[in-house]
Amino acid sequence: MADIDPWFTRLLPAELAIVVPTFNEVRNVEQLAEAVARALPGVRWEMVFVDDNSSDGTSDKVRRMALADSRIRILHRHNRRGLATACIEGILATAAPYVAVMDSDHQHDERILGEMLARIKQDGVDLVVGSRYTEGGGLGEWSRKRVLASQLATRIASGLTRVPMSDPMSGFFLVRRDAFMRSLPNLSSVGYKILLDIAASAPTPLHIAEVPYTFRTRQHGESKLDTLVLWEYLQLVLDKAFGRYIPARFMSFALVGGFGIVVHFLVLTLLYKLVGASFDQSQAVASVVAISNNFFLNNALTYRDQRLRGRSLLYGWISFNLVCATGAAANIGIADWLFGRNTYWILSAIPGVLISVVWNYAMSSLFTWRRK
Ligand code: GDD
Ligand code: MN
Repeated sequence: MADIDPWFTRLLPAELAIVVPTFNEVRNVEQLAEAVARALPGVRWEMVFVDDNSSDGTSDKVRRMALADSRIRILHRHNRRGLATACIEGILATAAPYVAVMDSDHQHDERILGEMLARIKQDGVDLVVGSRYTEGGGLGEWSRKRVLASQLATRIASGLTRVPMSDPMSGFFLVRRDAFMRSLPNLSSVGYKILLDIAASAPTPLHIAEVPYTFRTRQHGESKLDTLVLWEYLQLVLDKAFGRYIPARFMSFALVGGFGIVVHFLVLTLLYKLVGASFDQSQAVASVVAISNNFFLNNALTYRDQRLRGRSLLYGWISFNLVCATGAAANIGIADWLFGRNTYWILSAIPGVLISVVWNYAMSSLFTWRRK
């Protein structure tokens, strides 16, 4: 790699680590390392690539780069996925007192790293954010839809977590190690918004500085983030807002359950009123449809990180049906008992529903989505 700095600087420990999560980015990593080297003359840096066993050979490529330049390192994770956990583990894999996180696809402008480093060294700054929304920054060539989505997510974040940042959705930032360590025990680690997670998990508010930059278009390959990450984002924000009282996974499970009730009533109405099936038949079909709906949604959203596939998907569906059947029996039993004691009918129904949601959640986490 072309280099401006004398060779012996590489023998000294790095003061700045740049953590770069990668998933199928073989065509981007080398150019990125070169660009970073150009952007940081005179700085003792190291780069930690965190690769989730990409199928395109990214990790082999990084290992070859690391054999040619001792400032490049790799953390190769096997059987794991997830942007937030990749960043966290990358930060934990270095001793550098300052740690930057940036994407590998050249969308984040490495030329502001020097200024970010200068800012974090100022008194009392814990975190420097590369911001697209502060004066001088920009979104580059983004579709209108994506601009609106990003702004909406930004508003939700500011509203729910009260973190003073113009761009809490940024994936580009530099944090002092000691500040990160203070947030570590409280991190939610879901989804892909690690910056927001770090800032919102700090026991005392962080002192934040911002450096503007313009988001560039991706160099090679395509985005790894699909629409399901929106749900993970919701989970993160809910966890930051209410996680002290209710676990994020439970909130997701309950939201899916609420949607399942809507599905149940739609199918029931359709069969009973329009098709003219008997009430019992309509109920039975509606239950199976609603339970299956909840199963697949929970598998895709609530348990996205341990999604069941293939044969375990079938076993999971069967066990989920059994769990929900016992949950429903408990629900009806409790409601009947309360109703029999002349409790107002709505008040009779509510405890049954609550208990069955908690039951379904607890039992399905034991039997359906059991951690290996
Ligand atoms: N190790 C690992 N594991 N890396 C991942 C994973 C994963 O599961 N998913 C994505 N990455 C890596 C990508 O290889 C890339 O280097 C970086 O994380 C960002 O992923 P992209 O796929 O490029 O995301 P994006 O461009 O749609 O979103 C980016 O811009 C957003 C700005 O609105 C990210 O930086 C977001 O964090 C940011 O909010
Ligand atoms: Mn990208």
